[in-house]
Amino acid sequence: MPRQKKISKKSIRKIKAAKPEKEELLLQSPRGMRDILPADQIYWQQVRRVSEKAAADFGYRRIDVPLVEFTNIFSRSIGEGTDIIDKEMYSFSTKGGEKVSLRPEFTAGIARAYIQHGMHVSPKPVKLYYTGPCYRYDRPQEGRFREFFQFGCEALGEQDPVIDAQMIQMGWRVIYQLGIKNVRVNVNSIGCPSCRKSYRNLLIHYFESKKQKLCIDCKRRLETNPLRILDCKEDKCVQVRASAPQSIDHLCEECRTHFKELLEYLEELEIPFELDSNLVRGLDYYTKTVFEFMSVSESGEEKRKNALGGGGRYDGLVKMLGGENTPAVGFSLGLDRLAAEMKKLGARIYKEPKPRVFLAQLGVFAKKKSLKMFEGLERSGIRVAESFGRGSLKSQLKVADRLGVEITLILGQKEAIDQTVIVKDMASGNQEIIDAGKVIDEIKRRLKK
Ligand code: HAM
Repeated sequence: MPRQKKISKKSIRKIKAAKPEKEELLLQSPRGMRDILPADQIYWQQVRRVSEKAAADFGYRRIDVPLVEFTNIFSRSIGEGTDIIDKEMYSFSTKGGEKVSLRPEFTAGIARAYIQHGMHVSPKPVKLYYTGPCYRYDRPQEGRFREFFQFGCEALGEQDPVIDAQMIQMGWRVIYQLGIKNVRVNVNSIGCPSCRKSYRNLLIHYFESKKQKLCIDCKRRLETNPLRILDCKEDKCVQVRASAPQSIDHLCEECRTHFKELLEYLEELEIPFELDSNLVRGLDYYTKTVFEFMSVSESGEEKRKNALGGGGRYDGLVKMLGGENTPAVGFSLGLDRLAAEMKKLGARIYKEPKPRVFLAQLGVFAKKKSLKMFEGLERSGIRVAESFGRGSLKSQLKVADRLGVEITLILGQKEAIDQTVIVKDMASGNQEIIDAGKVIDEIKRRLKK
């Protein structure tokens, strides 16, 4: 047998000191997350502009909450046994040992902030809106991402169904104003804890008798969260639930009146809605009203299973987290889905007004002066373009031509010293030298013509 060579201590030290091999650099974003490139930003800007304008019009004030919360804020609010909590959270421990999660949605964090900052003393309802990224570790597919963006509104401290209707009105209006005209609102009421209890028992009784026909997940849901079976997309479960008892037939007097009034408001608002007895939503905090915004074809059929947005009432959440009894209602829209739908429909998008003036410069001193002049023009509301990085006047004028501006201002070395500027009318080619201090008034006068 060959004798094994003994490794010297020096070699061992060398091996230990050697740097580990570099990991391969993957030049791609993580699965389910993507870059939103400049070409698509026009849709996103439009979505943000329209949604934030609607929030302001309806008297909602912006709130920003951290991207990360203590994990139990989410698990208590959204509920153990829901897909979001059981399968989709990005959870980790900090260096200090705190258990935290990336937010899968906003409502839980907003309820936490409401309690933390004593907002219950503010005039009711407290109306808040938000926008930002959320994270759910789900299987990525069309319209479903692991990083996605929401805009949403929450009204805390009001139980009148008129606010539920107003929420639906706002969401619907935002979607409609984005050019997505074929939208339907699916609505349902899942009752309050007291009427839901007896409804839950009825459901258990019904599904127990059909247990063999349910998918594995729903067999488990029967034990943990039977309402979720109504939400299952598996064909066999869809068939079984077709004859399941419906929540609206088992509402208590208060919940029934609330729902009836909400539907009357929606009729008054002429918002196309449909009662969907299987709509239970994937979060446990809901009480009474639940709704979703669906994109539909001309004939009224749902185009995709992906909702553009959804929401509902959550009268018990604030109290459950340790605050006062606070009826509340809200909704969130999925910005990724809205932007994609707009693009697909070729929806009209808002374009920034084109610049009407170009500012060209020549020489170091003139370039310095140009920065200030540019700012002055912009501040006075004149849309102005430039290409300060280019040295030659010819190439700058080419850019001005391409942009189709009406006036080009030329600031050369001589003009900069004399405190003047050349004003060139692009249509006629006529040039005039004017006092630099009068440039704003002169441009305004010429653009008004
Ligand atoms: P949600 O239905 O879970 O409700 O989400 C609202 C919207 O966010 C969905 O309708 C969808 O447009 C978008 N969305 C959700 N998950 C994804 C995903 N993986 N990829 C792309 N878009 C997605 C909530 O989050 C509740 N907090 C709504 C609410 C507010 N209820 C009361 N107040």
